[in-house]
Amino acid sequence: MSRIPIVAGNWKMYKTPSEAVDFVTSLIPELSPLDGVERVICPPFLAIPGVSAKVAGSPIQVGAQNVHWQKEGAFTSDIAPAMLKGLVEYVIVGHSEVRQYHGDTDERVNMRAKAALEAGLKPIIAVGESVDTYRAGQTETFVGAQIRACFAGIPQEAVSSIVVAYEPLWAIGTGLTPTAEEANQIIKNAIRNVLASLYGEDAAQQVRIQYGGSVKPDNMKGFMSQPDIDGALVGGASLKVNDFVTLVKLAREAKGLA
Ligand code: 13P
Repeated sequence: MSRIPIVAGNWKMYKTPSEAVDFVTSLIPELSPLDGVERVICPPFLAIPGVSAKVAGSPIQVGAQNVHWQKEGAFTSDIAPAMLKGLVEYVIVGHSEVRQYHGDTDERVNMRAKAALEAGLKPIIAVGESVDTYRAGQTETFVGAQIRACFAGIPQEAVSSIVVAYEPLWAIGTGLTPTAEEANQIIKNAIRNVLASLYGEDAAQQVRIQYGGSVKPDNMKGFMSQPDIDGALVGGASLKVNDFVTLVKLAREAKGLA
């Protein structure tokens, strides 16, 4: 079963709308020829319309960084799935920064993912353990439980359109990472095998699973050479044209596409 690799840049709270459009203007000609890999950028909400218009007609796809689970309502500051429809293909849910600073729980992440799917958006469900959980050797148990909770009630037919991002909290923005083998082991045991227990082996084999956390040009090849790692969710290195382009090139090479 061959899965199409997916490299996504999570810009977090960086770039004004005009900076974002300038950035993708440089990115489009560099990324366009690199086919075989899905290339996704996830700008802040306000930059989405401009970025989306700019990449239209190019192979670059756009994602949002979060979405509310309600269709509309009195939810000051939030964005509903229908508001993103037509502007983005993907939406990250459960990013650790949203869990940490906005109190997101697995239950909410599950509601967000279901609402996204209902609106025809593809969720990138982010999971990952704290440094304490990692040090206690509880990573697989913890991440496995996150997967079960985040996928609760998600029907079989929706599973193949979901991407999972494994991002150890202690690796985000720190320059620290698990080894590529270790990341692959966790992804296989705690994510793919748990999905297989929920949906069957065939369905689990179709789900793309990204590694995220201090992904840089110098470690990308190692991660992407692992059999269960299908891409990367990239923060800091996605804010530089050259680095992001290099990451996509390395993904292609590692997966035998270049
Ligand atoms: P960094 O690549 O900056 O460590 O961020 C990872 C991340 O949180 C992507 O969602």
